[in-house]
Amino acid sequence: MSSSLGEFAQDVLAGLARSGQRELPSKYLYDDLGSALFEAITRLPEYGLTRADERLLRAHSPGIAAALPPGAVVAELGSGSGKKTVSILESLQARTGHKPRYYPIDLSTSALNTCARELASCAAVTPIEASYLDGIAQASALRTQSQPLLVLFLGSTIGNFDLSCAVEFLAALRSRLSPGDALLLGADLVKPVPQMLLAYDDPTGVTAAFNRNILGRINRELGADFNLTAYEHEARYHEPARRIEMHLRARSRQRVSIPNPGFRITIEPGETIWTESSHKFLLSDLDSLASRSGFRSILRWMDSQWPFAENLWSAVE
Ligand code: AVJ
Repeated sequence: MSSSLGEFAQDVLAGLARSGQRELPSKYLYDDLGSALFEAITRLPEYGLTRADERLLRAHSPGIAAALPPGAVVAELGSGSGKKTVSILESLQARTGHKPRYYPIDLSTSALNTCARELASCAAVTPIEASYLDGIAQASALRTQSQPLLVLFLGSTIGNFDLSCAVEFLAALRSRLSPGDALLLGADLVKPVPQMLLAYDDPTGVTAAFNRNILGRINRELGADFNLTAYEHEARYHEPARRIEMHLRARSRQRVSIPNPGFRITIEPGETIWTESSHKFLLSDLDSLASRSGFRSILRWMDSQWPFAENLWSAVE
């Protein structure tokens, strides 16, 4: 715990005590409260992303299972509770007559425990508490020659990466896989700007609370004195990069002290702290991501209510 707190403090320092645009890594939005607020976001009428992902997986898991080489086992990046994955595991079981091996990969012990408990009836679960790439390396080492790996990266989490980081990440993932292994990548697609903005600035204010909580977390874990109500939630669409950005805009001058690691900053009126990017994809973006990172696109399914795509890729030689 203390080493992860050290890393948090370092990242906060690097992101806030700088000239130019201040920023915080979006992964820090997800402490216990942040994860509960994100779960609430997934139920907002304005945020159709998670429901689209779930609908696609429910409707097409037999097709996904049928497209995989026999004997496939499943690993999932950031599994959370693993709820979305049940239908895929059931379809694999229906095909082979036995429970498939499932490696949920997550940094949260409590999420892994829930996942192992809830999915015990449809899979042989081996939880892996690790970062994405370390977890994939571990899962890949555990499976046997006759077990091709299906990696799940759902919910458009890939959208949190900058384009160049996404290519780098997917190539690093590919380098830990063998030819014939597969990746199922969920990606939120470009849609009309007002619809995208509303999904990240809901009238109920849940996304605003989710965003402000990152300052609350810095107060709780690093003893800082951010006044959360002094910051306005802002969602913008940055057209050239096709991304929604979340910012926190100071309504007035803010003096903040962060005792651990010990620094003070002054945030000017109107200045923002950039807390997240959510890239939205064109189908052509996804094809180019695949070929640039060592995958070949095999099949794609799209939702008719909320533009979202599940992409099945195969690791090429
Ligand atoms: C979980 C990263 C896919 O970017 O849409 C939801 C997080 N942020 N509302 C997204 C999020 C604001 C979400 N991801």
